[in-house]
Amino acid sequence: MASENPLLKRAYALNGDQNQIRAVYANWAKTYEADTLIGMGYVAPAIAAETMAQEIGQNDVILDAGCGTGLVGKELRSLSDAVIDGIDLSPDMLDQARKKDVYRTLNKADLTASLDIGDARYDGVISVGVFTSGHVGPTAMNELIRVIKPGAPAIITVHEQVWHKDGYRDHLDQMEKDDLAKICTIRETPYHQNEGYHCKLCILQAA
Ligand SMILES: C[S@@+](CC[C@H](N)C(=O)[O-])C[C@H]1O[C@@H](n2cnc3c(N)ncnc32)[C@H](O)[C@@H]1O
Repeated sequence: MASENPLLKRAYALNGDQNQIRAVYANWAKTYEADTLIGMGYVAPAIAAETMAQEIGQNDVILDAGCGTGLVGKELRSLSDAVIDGIDLSPDMLDQARKKDVYRTLNKADLTASLDIGDARYDGVISVGVFTSGHVGPTAMNELIRVIKPGAPAIITVHEQVWHKDGYRDHLDQMEKDDLAKICTIRETPYHQNEGYHCKLCILQAA
């Protein structure tokens, strides 16, 4: 089902071009939360954060990859005492996240490239709303797994529109074969409730 919502149409029409991604989110940053949470019934950040909160221990240090305005960080901090670092491509989205005062650090980063983060630095990684049309593809999951400790959880949403089209299941199976990560659960979960969209909530564990 393709959404008729013009904001989603614009976001999903992106083709991974970073200048375009930055331009769309520069334009959207200030109204993003009202548009998504209220307008679209965007429940994925709350569901993913709740899942992460159940997986982690006290004072664990978590990376929020593609943190946007900080919806995930805010939810996760309300449910745990996690220390949270955020990274995102869009400086304007990061500016909004900074106002929440729930992140230890917020930095600009491109998830489609090698991250400037050492191996096994984090106790978990969470990424919501990023593995979707025109944003980031399945290969970026490898970097997210690289930066977490062996046995640490990765909680990642994949939009239903790209799950089959972009070969996520095959990619995850290959990661498991390559002994990079274990697939714990892949759960069908509501995403934009008012738009009728679902996602796959992938719960992985670094090998
Ligand atoms: C739909 S928003 C989701 C933001 C937040 N996680 C949430 O759930 O509200 C998608 C985010 O992905 C970011 N993004 C897109 N491509 C990216 C890339 N290559 N590297 C890092 N962030 C990227 C955008 O800047 C935007 O903030």
